[in-house]
Amino acid sequence: MDKSVFITGGTSGIGAAMAKLYSSKGYRVAVCGRNQKKFESNFKDTSIDFYQVEVTDLMALKDAIKDFSKNGLDIVIASAGIGYKSKSSIPNYDECRNIFDINVQGVINTFEACTHIFKENGGGKVAAISSIAAFNGLPGAPAYCASKAAVRTYCESMSISLKKYNISVTCICPGFIKTPLTSTNKHPMPFLQDVDTSAQRFVQAIDKNKSLYIFPFLFGSIVNLLGKLPRKMFVFIISRSKMNYTRSYDQ
Ligand SMILES: NC(=O)c1ccc[n+]([C@@H]2O[C@H](COP(=O)([O-])OP(=O)(O)OC[C@H]3O[C@@H](n4cnc5c(N)ncnc54)[C@H](OP(=O)(O)O)[C@@H]3O)[C@@H](O)[C@H]2O)c1
Repeated sequence: MDKSVFITGGTSGIGAAMAKLYSSKGYRVAVCGRNQKKFESNFKDTSIDFYQVEVTDLMALKDAIKDFSKNGLDIVIASAGIGYKSKSSIPNYDECRNIFDINVQGVINTFEACTHIFKENGGGKVAAISSIAAFNGLPGAPAYCASKAAVRTYCESMSISLKKYNISVTCICPGFIKTPLTSTNKHPMPFLQDVDTSAQRFVQAIDKNKSLYIFPFLFGSIVNLLGKLPRKMFVFIISRSKMNYTRSYDQ
């Protein structure tokens, strides 16, 4: 029987590219998102199922994943996420709260909706899209960085505790990828990657049960190094570097 994958935030960007890739490999695929029109315009003539679900709505997400799992469930990917519209020095605090609700609560809800099913089935794979922004507090993106750090740590913890149920957890930390999320960025995006190549790498990482996958490697290594510096030195460098996003947004 074909393997089955459910992807949250699959109506565009990384989630959509992974959905198309899994579908081309013969998987049974479903995506969820808030915007059905976006799904229809990105997936013409497709066998991919769509569930109109907000990841912050636990019951709706549970119902959707349970319904899809009637014909099997092997992989669940939490890709739904949002970033800042403006990366000004003083953030929009409503936006900060919303980023936490979707990026963190959405991931916890996704785990809740699938881990019980996987335990009953004797195993499965769950992946979440964190970010390279998880490793440091970058100016202009406080809630985004903090939300992605939370996802990374959450995944690390769950990857250890879920092993005994044969559930593997993969945390994916991408750098900049060309998607609708980054299309309005006003700041430089070093090592910007194409979405289809990135999706291929993420699918491979999940296939290999990697617990942490950082892509692209060189950008990840630089960011990782920055994270290991004494914090004073990090603050000095980042305040002056191209990664001080506020420069492009403050009036
Ligand atoms: N692109 C990058 O450079 C980059 C880098 C690192 C990490 N990431 C992360 O990768 C993930 C995917 O981002 P992307 O670049 O592919 O952006 P994107 O094209 O904007 O995709 C975001 C997806 O999330 C869905 N979504 C947003 N809020 C939702 C909600 N409340 N409930 C359900 N679905 C929701 C959107 O669907 P609807 O609009 O239909 O709801 C869309 O399908 C995000 O978690 C992002 O933080 C992206």
